[in-house]
Amino acid sequence: MKGVILAGGLGKRLEPLTRITNKHLLPVYDRPMIYYPIQTLVEAGISQILVVTGGNNAGDFLRLLGNGGEFGLKHLDYTYQRGEGGIAEALRLAEHFAAGEPLVVILGDNIIEKSIRTYVQRFAAQEGGAKILLKEVDDPHRFGVAELRGDRVIGIEEKPKTPKSSYAVTGIYMYDAQVFDIIKTLKPSGRGELEITDVNNAYIGRQQMTYDILDGWWTDAGLPETLYRATTLVREHTLRQRGPALEEDTLIRLAKTEPV
Ligand code: DAU
Repeated sequence: MKGVILAGGLGKRLEPLTRITNKHLLPVYDRPMIYYPIQTLVEAGISQILVVTGGNNAGDFLRLLGNGGEFGLKHLDYTYQRGEGGIAEALRLAEHFAAGEPLVVILGDNIIEKSIRTYVQRFAAQEGGAKILLKEVDDPHRFGVAELRGDRVIGIEEKPKTPKSSYAVTGIYMYDAQVFDIIKTLKPSGRGELEITDVNNAYIGRQQMTYDILDGWWTDAGLPETLYRATTLVREHTLRQRGPALEEDTLIRLAKTEPV
């Protein structure tokens, strides 16, 4: 299984924060946003990872991440998406990298609390097709929304005005090699993008889509409000994990700081 992180696009919804840098390089608590999806993949046991960048300062990804040694990786692959033609367009750039292997795809602005290892293992055990991870939310109209019947997902609507359920499709997708043939059949949506929801609906049409409900919190970080939310959630999580050690560390750092 290989991993792809989609960190292209222009991040316009975060202007002016994204005017001179890439959205995925912005801080979320104590790390750049891109660190979190990398950690999610590495923790799930994936060591061959492609980062699709784009927009401003794409070279900064290389300067920041290098070959991924900080994450225990030997190597990282990179590619560049021109403009923002959509999530599916960005994924199309991974065809050569995938070389027929199944993929775990994660959006560069999706941050989660817990491991996805179990879901990846379940996908590896299923006979091809695709898997999505759903999460119940209060504001489904902001996302792709799944319509469920029994244990099947029967359709997904992208940002519907009247959502058919409260289950958002998170930005973590698992696909077999058919995904690239499906992307080639797509037409741009009303917003001029190749939509990942159309890819998912194609798998649903072929009856080759499974889903799991994601455990733990999940947020995107693509709007000022959700970027703030992501920072808050990560901070609380980090404090819970590190406990008193962090407080001590913070106090030492504060003590060392000269007053300005
Ligand atoms: O966060 C989950 C949601 O992400 C899903 O529920 C939706 O179905 C899906 O369409 C997507 O919705 P957004 O409209 O919020 O996606 P956004 O345009 O913010 O892009 C999310 C990430 O995808 C972004 O951080 C980088 C990557 N991306 C996006 C575009 C448009 C690219 O790599 N290239 C692109 O052209």
